[in-house]
Amino acid sequence: MSAQPNVPVKRVTAPEIRSRKGGEPIVALTSYTVQSAAIADPLVDLLLVGDSVGMVVHGLESTVPVTLDLMIAHGKAVMRGASRALVVVDMPFGSYEESPAVAFRNATRIMKETGCGAIKLEGGAHMAETIRGLVERGIPVMAHVGLTPQSVNTLGGFKAQGRTRAEWAALEADARAVAEAGAFCVVLEAMAEQLARRITAAVSIPTIGIGASSACDGQILVMEDMLGIPARVPKFVKTYARIGDVMRDAIAAYASDVRQRTFPGPGNTYTVRD
Ligand code: KIV
Repeated sequence: MSAQPNVPVKRVTAPEIRSRKGGEPIVALTSYTVQSAAIADPLVDLLLVGDSVGMVVHGLESTVPVTLDLMIAHGKAVMRGASRALVVVDMPFGSYEESPAVAFRNATRIMKETGCGAIKLEGGAHMAETIRGLVERGIPVMAHVGLTPQSVNTLGGFKAQGRTRAEWAALEADARAVAEAGAFCVVLEAMAEQLARRITAAVSIPTIGIGASSACDGQILVMEDMLGIPARVPKFVKTYARIGDVMRDAIAAYASDVRQRTFPGPGNTYTVRD
């Protein structure tokens, strides 16, 4: 019998995600580490190295201080853990807004240094020119409208968007603008179901909701939130596990073992050889 050749796993591409509009829902999660990427990779379509890493992993108050170097370091780790899912790396605040040229320079750095398949940036109509420039130059872009956390200081907090119907037209125009500019999908963050449904019907690219209901073409959550790792999760998150409680119990058991010298168990110590 001849040996089976090593067939490399085919990675999901941005055009494949784009082609899922109105089809099988897109499963997406954030990931910041090699371990979480390796566990989620066979189960999801897309892993986002979100700039939420600044808040979730590094304890920052917002995503504003997150740097390009930090995103690249986490992007490299996730790429080492994932072989199948499309890996998208967030462009941090200040790395793309100045001009399409600056955005291209920094997006190129992210793609070259991490090997990821696409970048994400926040903003609607005002970012359309930048998105078009990136896509025309070979960089797939995931857009992000609605609550855009990098604008927390102008929004006055992490507030759901489109709470009044008067705001809907502008939010829909943002989603249309990024789709027309060539984004392969768009994140809709923190908005009412009716608005998410209306935008999903209006745009030609998949919408991926976070706090935007199941009316979207897919969903993304912060992995730590759905695993129950922080003490407090946003109200729209369904928690699938209580990993924080499991960790606390395990650490308490470990601390008790150390204090009572009931460690290690038989067979876990080194023996003297001579
Ligand atoms: O940074 C992030 O994790 C994100 C998701 C919430 C979409 O942008």
